[in-house]
Amino acid sequence: MNFEFTEEQLMIKQAARDYAQRELLLDVLERDEKGIFPEKHIKNLAELGFMGMMVDPEYGGSGMDTISYILAMEEISKIDASVSVIMSVNNSLVCYGLDKFGNEEQKQKYLVPVATGEKIGAFLLSEPEAGSDATHQNTSAEDKGDHYLINGTKNWITSANSASVYIVIAQTHPEKKHKGINAFIVDKDSPGISLGPHEDKMGMRSSDTHSVMFSDVVVPKENRIGEDGFGFKFAMKVLEAGRIGIASQAVGLASGALERATAYSKERKAFGTEIANHQAIAFKLADMAVKVENARNLCLKAGWLKDNHKSITVPSAMAKQYAADIAMEVTTEAVQIHGGYGYVKEYHVERLMREAKLTQIYEGTSEVQKIVISRDVLRG
Ligand code: CAA
Repeated sequence: MNFEFTEEQLMIKQAARDYAQRELLLDVLERDEKGIFPEKHIKNLAELGFMGMMVDPEYGGSGMDTISYILAMEEISKIDASVSVIMSVNNSLVCYGLDKFGNEEQKQKYLVPVATGEKIGAFLLSEPEAGSDATHQNTSAEDKGDHYLINGTKNWITSANSASVYIVIAQTHPEKKHKGINAFIVDKDSPGISLGPHEDKMGMRSSDTHSVMFSDVVVPKENRIGEDGFGFKFAMKVLEAGRIGIASQAVGLASGALERATAYSKERKAFGTEIANHQAIAFKLADMAVKVENARNLCLKAGWLKDNHKSITVPSAMAKQYAADIAMEVTTEAVQIHGGYGYVKEYHVERLMREAKLTQIYEGTSEVQKIVISRDVLRG
């Protein structure tokens, strides 16, 4: 087993770190407070090749591996998880889904602009009554011969307003249950699509999250991804790849909080010495470091398996569940180490804690990951 990164992977990590520490940090507090979409940063990250990292250059991507993506996601997430969630949905849900399952025409028309970052992509699965239970799709896609007619509502959609390319999961044959679900590529500007208000979220406040309503939206037949009825398998396959992205985001939130707590504990004095010299603090830092390292290793293993075309269903669920749960613990400890300063915005750790909470909820709650993991354990 080789635990060393290649020179290229380290360069990508450094490029992400430099951008995050120099540019994202400058206005992250203002964007968080006002919920301002990070348009300029997404353009800059697209220029760095970070919006279609794992897509072949033939389709507008950067041709990097999943390990590089994980390293970049961690560095960006240390500073701004709103930016990294836009990156993650674009890379590992939309680009990956189109790249792996789209046909040549779909790739040329939709993957190329999303991978170059010219357009942003969004993934529309969740519904008011279908969160963890993703089989229960109420959005309908009626087969009208040469086109489908989509009706229904999607909830909690990341990049709903900023995206131009939607991947929409909808039910075509209700009698077939999940085997009757399809996935469609839908232009956001199609007549009949409207958005609910910008969600006023607890964290990741500058990514734009909305409900999306579909009223008799016409989607050409050629925009269906895969065979009729492939939509649920498509969603599951795409989500398992997506979970590596969110797991890396959670690692970044935790390691960012650890970096800040370490720096603070070497400066702040109490009882006549820097608080890092008290075991009460030093042991907390040690526990945080072990958790971050474990979570990072789970992510990297899932990434390695993906790059080597092995099954990632369980490894990505393990990485996502563990990384999200420790992100919550580590960011909470970082606030504790900062004391009162941890509770105000300028020290950033309260924001990292708010953002960590979402990693336990989206792209499958921690409980959903445990369904996937426990089924595997029980199968033996
Ligand atoms: N790969 C391929 N096929 C899979 C699969 C996988 N990883 N997981 C399930 N399937 C298949 C099964 O084999 C089964 O197929 P057959 O009927 O042909 O045997 C079918 O799908 C149904 O599977 P299950 O019986 O396991 O389905 P379930 O109802 O028990 O649900 C679940 C499983 C894991 C809970 C799933 O519903 C799930 O992942 N839910 C969470 C949904 C989710 O992650 N939502 C996130 C929304 S996107 C988002 O958050 C993006 C964002 O904005 C940040």
